[in-house]
Amino acid sequence: MWAELREDARGIIARDPAARSVLEVMLLYPSFHAVLLHRLAHALWIRDWRFLGRAVSQTARWLTGIEIHPGARIGRRFFVDHGMGVVIGETAEIGDDVTLYHGVTLGGILPSVNSGAQIGVKRHPTLEDGVIVGSGAQVLGAIHVGRAARIGANSVVTRDVDPGATMVGIPAKAVRRAVREATTFCAYGVREMSDPNAPPAGVPSAEAMARRIEELEQHLLALEARLADAEGRPGAVAREPVDVA
Ligand SMILES: CC(C)(COP(=O)(O)OP(=O)(O)OC[C@H]1O[C@@H](n2cnc3c(N)ncnc32)[C@H](O)[C@@H]1OP(=O)(O)O)[C@@H](O)C(=O)NCCC(=O)NCCS
Repeated sequence: MWAELREDARGIIARDPAARSVLEVMLLYPSFHAVLLHRLAHALWIRDWRFLGRAVSQTARWLTGIEIHPGARIGRRFFVDHGMGVVIGETAEIGDDVTLYHGVTLGGILPSVNSGAQIGVKRHPTLEDGVIVGSGAQVLGAIHVGRAARIGANSVVTRDVDPGATMVGIPAKAVRRAVREATTFCAYGVREMSDPNAPPAGVPSAEAMARRIEELEQHLLALEARLADAEGRPGAVAREPVDVA
């Protein structure tokens, strides 16, 4: 139990650039409190203590602004950044290392659209491992959001999402670019930052160019020496190699 709590707190520190310590997260992060209370609510719910489960879930909602139905299934290191205004429905399923920002709904759709929207029937989304859902996004219906997919802020998603895809807009459409394969977290769902000092793709680094120049210079000196030999005159003097480190 304690190990699980520490894992939750460490997961938050790893994903929130503003989080400083396990203690700070445990005392001051609504996501941490909501997940803790959800574990209790879910344990009551699956043992058929439904009213008590709902009571714990409502208490968590008052305290944190995060409403998680006690029936929802949530994986490890789940993080709701900022909390407030998040709604997670009864049949939602969430994998490991999933991040939601404030104002996200993992909700059902109207019965007129989804004729199977009755008690006990799957009617909320499934989010696979490493999914990031931006603030205000609505993910609606019994859809599948693939591993490491990203949902843009304020998007509305009503169809399955491919693993690694980035979805934006209403209705959400995939941004055209290579899909992400890993579930490495990037804060706010933005692309992994590259080294600003690195040369553009396909251009060799300054060190590689200096090494190549050195090799060519040595080659030129060797050729000059052979030419001088053939002509019977003194050859060029090789200079000291330059330290490019
Ligand atoms: C969707 C998101 C993950 C994409 O990040 P990215 O991979 O760096 O993508 P880019 O910023 O290059 O945007 C790609 C395209 O999508 C558009 N776009 C990005 N986010 C969008 C959004 N939320 N809604 C609509 N269009 C969006 C961009 O304008 C761009 O369009 P273009 O190709 O026509 O220029 C990111 O923009 C996002 O919304 N992250 C969530 C942030 C959040 O919730 N922050 C709250 C912190 S408190």
